[in-house]
Amino acid sequence: MVHVNIAIDGPAGAGKSTAAKGVAKRLGLKYIDTGAMYRAITWKGILKGIDFEKSREIELLTSNTVINIKKGSDDSNRIYLDGVDVTTEIRDPSVNRKVSLVAKNQQVRDMMVAQQREIASGGGIVMDGRDIGTHVLPGAHFKFFINATLEERAHRRYLELTKQGHEISEEDVQKEISMRDKIDTEREFSPLVAAKDAIFVDTTNLTAREVEEKIVIHVKECIQAGTA
Ligand code: CDP
Repeated sequence: MVHVNIAIDGPAGAGKSTAAKGVAKRLGLKYIDTGAMYRAITWKGILKGIDFEKSREIELLTSNTVINIKKGSDDSNRIYLDGVDVTTEIRDPSVNRKVSLVAKNQQVRDMMVAQQREIASGGGIVMDGRDIGTHVLPGAHFKFFINATLEERAHRRYLELTKQGHEISEEDVQKEISMRDKIDTEREFSPLVAAKDAIFVDTTNLTAREVEEKIVIHVKECIQAGTA
């Protein structure tokens, strides 16, 4: 058991959450999936039929929403939206298509970031997202930026979605991911960018286990050397 904060950022489908979950388990840390929070608000917006082009509607919705993250039995996060478990629903392709519009809103981000910092305030956290190393936890002991080629990321996401029973083409998944990457990278507030002190991990030719291993080895070595 170590007591450090680890930030893992990167674009969609790079393998952040699988790595973050595994690293947290092996190091005895708590895993927090920040993307799930933006997804939960988006899901509520879809249910309510809001206009995602209107920032006021998104802001009003967010300020009237309570999101909680609890640990599931398999070490993953369970996401509660106003007290209801929406862990499965927030992975729906309809959420993928709208979530970046929600996440580019500054008021939404301020509310989510405040909650994320509160969760991390006790330390011992592995947090994954887009702005963890740059904005949410700039003082994290370790920062990783995980990436893979667009083709590989789309392929992984395609396999995940079809396994869950969604009928979707790999081409459409790739289009959705690259649209989301574009909005996330070009947005005004806390865009997706690697922190200056982040360690890059290209996961294109690595298995999830290999990514996890790389991170765990690095963290353990730094702790042993007293450089963490
Ligand atoms: O799992 P995947 O990489 O597809 O996405 P996610 O981590 O669940 O994040 C979904 C979306 O939430 C991203 O495309 C971003 O628009 C937004 N997000 C963000 O802006 N900041 C974060 N810290 C986490 C996610």
